[in-house]
Amino acid sequence: MNTNQKTDLSAFSKDFLWGASTAAHQVEGGQLNDWTEWEKVHAKRLAHKYSQRFSSLPAWPSIKLQAQNPGNYISGDAVDHYHLYKKDFDLLKQIGLNSFRFGIEWARIEPQEGKWSQEAIEHYHKYIKTLKSYNLKIIPTLWHWTLPQWFARKGGFNRASNIAYFLRFTKKIMKEYGFAFDYIITLNEPNIYSGTAYLIGSKPPQQKSILAFLTTYANLVSAHKQAYKIIKRAQPKAQVGVSMATCNFQPLRPSKVTDKLAAKAAEYGWNFWFLDQIKECQDFVGVNYYQTMYLSLGGIKNPASPTDDMGRYLEPKGLLPLLKRIDSRYKKPIIITENGVIDAQDRYRKWWLAETIKSMDKALECGVDLRGYLHWSLVDNFEWEYGWWPKFGLVAVDRQNNMHRTIKPSAKWLARQLRPLNDQAEPQPPVTSRQP
Ligand code: BGC
Repeated sequence: MNTNQKTDLSAFSKDFLWGASTAAHQVEGGQLNDWTEWEKVHAKRLAHKYSQRFSSLPAWPSIKLQAQNPGNYISGDAVDHYHLYKKDFDLLKQIGLNSFRFGIEWARIEPQEGKWSQEAIEHYHKYIKTLKSYNLKIIPTLWHWTLPQWFARKGGFNRASNIAYFLRFTKKIMKEYGFAFDYIITLNEPNIYSGTAYLIGSKPPQQKSILAFLTTYANLVSAHKQAYKIIKRAQPKAQVGVSMATCNFQPLRPSKVTDKLAAKAAEYGWNFWFLDQIKECQDFVGVNYYQTMYLSLGGIKNPASPTDDMGRYLEPKGLLPLLKRIDSRYKKPIIITENGVIDAQDRYRKWWLAETIKSMDKALECGVDLRGYLHWSLVDNFEWEYGWWPKFGLVAVDRQNNMHRTIKPSAKWLARQLRPLNDQAEPQPPVTSRQP
């Protein structure tokens, strides 16, 4: 893991998006949506379940206290990004990033069916205006898994007739903020959402039904396609895509036909099926990459190390073959909309970033039309059913100490790599750190 040599960024264009990603529910705090309801009901059960599941992990001694505590499973004030967003934009700038992916929380904008909250609308106006004043390219996500409670009660995306509500929300967002958008992500990881909420049952509404999974997945295809048209009508220049959970599936034994078949089938079902359905309705492919999996007909058999704090195998360079396959299938610009590592001690993140940059450099050399890299996440975030202990941030947040933020050593390293690019960039207006 030699990461001391300087990274060569000469292959990256000056317009390349170097950024970080967040999602409203995971950072803002003070939400009222289907997840906040669910967290309260399930916190104790989750503390019990994950204390059993994770107790054999090497990281267990350091995560134990949090993982066993039901409070870990409540998003609560999150990292109060709702109020501290300006501080976070300062941090983005300090790291030398030029773009930011964030969520607009539907449940805030439309807390009751058909009733818009003027306060929330104004908040995001200020928020977007502030982002623009920082000269950051903005990449909003319209839906990142959470639902207004009224929409969840109507059956959420499981019912085709409910898609109309999401489209009405999309229209409203375009009317309010569309002029400011260069890029838009309609949906976050429809594959993980449908799979975990409707098939495995680990996220709300916790169904375990193949039919519910397939219906929801198909409804999300339709929701995206229709939202795409609405967005393009309102703002033809906006570049629209989804953020897709993708995995670098590899045959365990490359010479075995059955292993190759297993990898191909997984790739089609997980990475490509949804993207194939929407291929006429996307301007870029949003790729979220965290994992490589070695497959045979017997299942996944990954090397034992290195692993993240959750025990998941880490292979950052698996990004390269994945990018090449996505590029050759869709022939569209690609933006990496999420990529990162659970690493509370910040032991692996610098290596992960360095290897990832090398893979992107090679991908560009091979002609892949890669336009951006958004790290997950800017700040430590609420990690859904796992709560607060998995740490993904470039910036640590001390939730017990006034939400104090500290840039991690790995992010300082990234800032040093990006400095030459930023030195060449046009001078920007000064940044102030006053809250709006
Ligand atoms: C999701 C994020 C999540 C991240 C890390 C993605 O699946 O979009 O919300 O926090 O991965 O697990």
